[in-house]
Amino acid sequence: MSKTVTVEVGLGARAYDILIGPGLLAGAGETVSARLPGARVAIVTDGNVAASHLETLKSGLERGGVTVAAAVTLPAGEKTKSFEHLQEVVDAVLGARLERRDAVVALGGGVIGDLTGFAAGIVRRGMDFVQVPTSLLAQVDSSVGGKTGINSARGKNLIGVFHQPKLVLADSGVLDTLPIREFRAGYAELAKYGLIDRPAFFAWLEKNWQEVFEGGDARIEAIAEACRAKADVVARDEFETGDRALLNLGHTFGHALEAATAYDGTRLVHGEGVSIGMVLAHRFSARLNLASPDDAARVEAHLKAVGLPTSVADIPGELPGPEKLFDYITQDKKVSRGALTFILTRGIGRSFIAKDVPASEVVAFLRDSLE
Ligand code: GLY
Repeated sequence: MSKTVTVEVGLGARAYDILIGPGLLAGAGETVSARLPGARVAIVTDGNVAASHLETLKSGLERGGVTVAAAVTLPAGEKTKSFEHLQEVVDAVLGARLERRDAVVALGGGVIGDLTGFAAGIVRRGMDFVQVPTSLLAQVDSSVGGKTGINSARGKNLIGVFHQPKLVLADSGVLDTLPIREFRAGYAELAKYGLIDRPAFFAWLEKNWQEVFEGGDARIEAIAEACRAKADVVARDEFETGDRALLNLGHTFGHALEAATAYDGTRLVHGEGVSIGMVLAHRFSARLNLASPDDAARVEAHLKAVGLPTSVADIPGELPGPEKLFDYITQDKKVSRGALTFILTRGIGRSFIAKDVPASEVVAFLRDSLE
């Protein structure tokens, strides 16, 4: 019988627990009322997640004495991170007359978590909120650490606030219903923590990834270790003035590839971009003589074994040339005196923030990678 693992995010007065295990939706009432006594809640979710999990969560909350005052079901997909849907959530929360010490509950993946957290951050100048992430990516990354927000026509996640949840319920059982492609994409973010600074975790994943995909205790342990890694970084650098940027390993190349494919999820989803991006970050580090090419080969072999794309050639359809890809990188990042900041590595689990990466080296590397 699998047990629940608790990981604490150590933020002093704003510290909170991440619970990881099966059956947490059904037991949500007791868990929430123990931490937020007397709170009424509004649940925010999307159409896909609602069909599978809304009733389980609602009755789980009500069985434990938590009143569900409203439930808002939004369209699934990235476009939902908009002012229009933010307003819908805000109106629903205010319409249900929730007070500051009541709570908004985000039931869904990263889109729902980010939007709901932002709504909770601005209604009544900051309400309590609970994350109930239902994708692997949200369980190991976006539900932890308090980054919330919506997209602007000028770019993703440009409007938002840091607002920490009071509790994260990562129900490992809900992942059983995820499409395999989405599970794999989340796995890329899971492996990322091993590559940043937990080499033993990466080696463990190389041995145990099949069990992680199958479910059970190995999956719980992998999610817990990823959450410990994220909680450590967030506790050190909540507002990303330093080390938190390490969490962007693979994301510079990954975001550029997502932009180059016009965010068309049939060609590339975020975690797949991160998978290719992490291989490129290791290859680029080897090219700059910072790391051994054997490490890049090892990263590529593992991500390939789990079925993730690992090279730009794995993306279906045409891609723009190296100069255009570099343009996408600089939409995300400032070039200062011909240099950029990148997350590079000295080997598996030895990532670091490199502040003076010459733009010319990046373009030359992209040219070779696209050949
Ligand atoms: N997903 C990156 C961060 O939370 O900082």
